[in-house]
Amino acid sequence: MLKGKQIVLGVTGGIAAYKAVELLRLLTKAGADVHVIMTRAAQEFIAPLTFQTLSANPVHTELFNLIAEREIGHIALADRADLCIIAPATANVIGKIAAGIADDMLTTTIMATKAPVLIAPAMNVNMYTNPIYRNNEETLMDCGYLFVAPATGTLACGWEGEGKLASPESIFEAAVAAISPTDLRGQTIMITAGPTREELDPVRFISNHSSGRMGYALAKNAQRRGARVVLISGPVNLPAPFGVELVGVESAKEMQAEVMARIGGCTAVIKAAAVADYRPRVRSGEKIKKKDAELSLELVKTPDILAELGRLEKRPLLVGFAAETGNLNEFAARKLKEKNVDFIVANDISQPDAGFNVETNRARLLFRDGRCLEYPLMSKDALAAVILDHVATELAAK
Ligand code: C5P
Repeated sequence: MLKGKQIVLGVTGGIAAYKAVELLRLLTKAGADVHVIMTRAAQEFIAPLTFQTLSANPVHTELFNLIAEREIGHIALADRADLCIIAPATANVIGKIAAGIADDMLTTTIMATKAPVLIAPAMNVNMYTNPIYRNNEETLMDCGYLFVAPATGTLACGWEGEGKLASPESIFEAAVAAISPTDLRGQTIMITAGPTREELDPVRFISNHSSGRMGYALAKNAQRRGARVVLISGPVNLPAPFGVELVGVESAKEMQAEVMARIGGCTAVIKAAAVADYRPRVRSGEKIKKKDAELSLELVKTPDILAELGRLEKRPLLVGFAAETGNLNEFAARKLKEKNVDFIVANDISQPDAGFNVETNRARLLFRDGRCLEYPLMSKDALAAVILDHVATELAAK
């Protein structure tokens, strides 16, 4: 998402300046071309060479540098930027920007840019709560500047409270969101992910190989594109996506209960979970003992959550998944009708590089009007973006 993007990273003079190094690393790893501007005070905390080495670009420290001025001019960075980030941003720099002061390279660039500006404040709690600071923040927010709220904790000055620079990961996420399309803003999207577990006894269960990666990629991308996201997830080994409401469940029945409890207000539901179709008729309270004789299990059907959603009178946009090992189009087309969904993402899980427990997927999208769009092998992240493009289009047409 940040591939090829030009990002200006402004670093000002606070002890948290060292965390800007980690942020820079996250940005460059995501493919961004980062140009660092340091204020004079920032250079007291960390050497420009660190940023220069990691960004592979010259670090800008002075407003009128003779060489840089000849080559790019002092507002060229402002013109070139897709996004400006100031992290950490001191009360001083925020005050200067709010007052329209442009007396160094960073404030001049910020004043001159038309790119979104994301500010991550870091300061003493009393400075943060000072009404002068609060006014400055409000002024900037009114002008469209974006903020990543600081965290609460022990501050470098010894005080406890708000003012700690937000984590590099959350500033990174806010940066991605700032330059992502916001075509899902105003939507509430529910996504289900992962497998379910149907218990036989206190130690055994029936489940499947779903890793949850597809659903988590959808959740992360939908959040970045401005949606409020509710993620109902079976047991997986993945970190919670940033800014998403995560509800953990075990069985299909639990998933059904959580989905139905939260469905009001949802404009779309994407059912990426691999819900078990059957569960043991009885769950033994005691561990089932090994015997000489064979053991037969009696299985009963689990509730089909997607079909239940399809029967709702006020039905949100519904997207289903179909993982098949053959006759993909036929099964997917049948599911589309039977479950009354808007489109189905079908993948052939007999292929080693698609479907369960791998990083990539090769999918086909089948729509109610008979369209069938086939996509090449791609990462689950890229496929999530494709699916959400269609969700955005269908929601806009509703
Ligand atoms: O019928 P099948 O399990 O192949 O359908 C897959 C789709 O239906 C997926 O989107 C899955 O999340 C959903 N599903 C469900 N409840 C079930 C079984 C599947 O919501 N009990």
